[in-house]
Amino acid sequence: MQSQSSVAIFDSGLGGLTVMREIMQLLPYEDLIYFGDMARVPYGGRGSKTIVRYALECIRFLMKRKIKCLVIACHTVSAYALQDLAREFGLPMLGVIEPLVQELCKTDAKQILILGTKATIASHIYPKLILEKKPSLKISSIAAPLFVPFVEEGLIHHPACDLVVQEYLKPLAGQKIDAALLACTHYPLIKKAIQKCIGRQVTLIEAGPPTAHALFDLLANKLLLSPPRRSKLSFIVTDHREKFCSHAAAFLNRPIDPHDVEEVDLCSL
Ligand code: DGL
Repeated sequence: MQSQSSVAIFDSGLGGLTVMREIMQLLPYEDLIYFGDMARVPYGGRGSKTIVRYALECIRFLMKRKIKCLVIACHTVSAYALQDLAREFGLPMLGVIEPLVQELCKTDAKQILILGTKATIASHIYPKLILEKKPSLKISSIAAPLFVPFVEEGLIHHPACDLVVQEYLKPLAGQKIDAALLACTHYPLIKKAIQKCIGRQVTLIEAGPPTAHALFDLLANKLLLSPPRRSKLSFIVTDHREKFCSHAAAFLNRPIDPHDVEEVDLCSL
């Protein structure tokens, strides 16, 4: 059984485990409950109404677990649904966009690239927030939806993955980029392929570490940090329980007890 004081982490699929991994490192005493909407991933090619509806359905289900704080690990959901979620659920909540923008603003990068899903790029939320803080930055954006299935299928070391990365980054030829934001949960898992193609001089910035730090601050401010204790991890997926178990074990670098992974039917959301 999950205690009444878990931090919930929500993502459209597996990719949010890149955020969970960082949270586990920084906040080892917190009980974590991860929800991956494996039945409906990817969200990134869908329209805003669908993204909001899917997120609301999943979080309504999660709320039955009496969680103390919610991390929206998905950039697409953070871009479209954070306000609706905050309106409906009165609990401390955090998306990935603000922490990632803050992290970028700490660097002295002048020319940056944003890589995200089609929906995240179409929302223009990253350029908007970045330019509010640093109006002189030069920003390029590229939607790279095919990176997601490579991760979901476990093909992150496949040569085809390198080819797809090269294809997406082609428009950058001749441009000098200082930093690239990996504005999608899945992209840190193909970081090596992206770095190889974009060049070592480009700093890749991902959301996991700054989001974990922002969560630490949020819990500390609200006096919600758990004291030292043995913590528990549990998982809820809407499909593909076995695939999730093996990927989660690999991504989190620890064995996952299948009893800790619950599969819920979409009809029960
Ligand atoms: N989790 C999504 C995000 O970070 C990527 C996968 C999807 O398209 O659902 O935007």
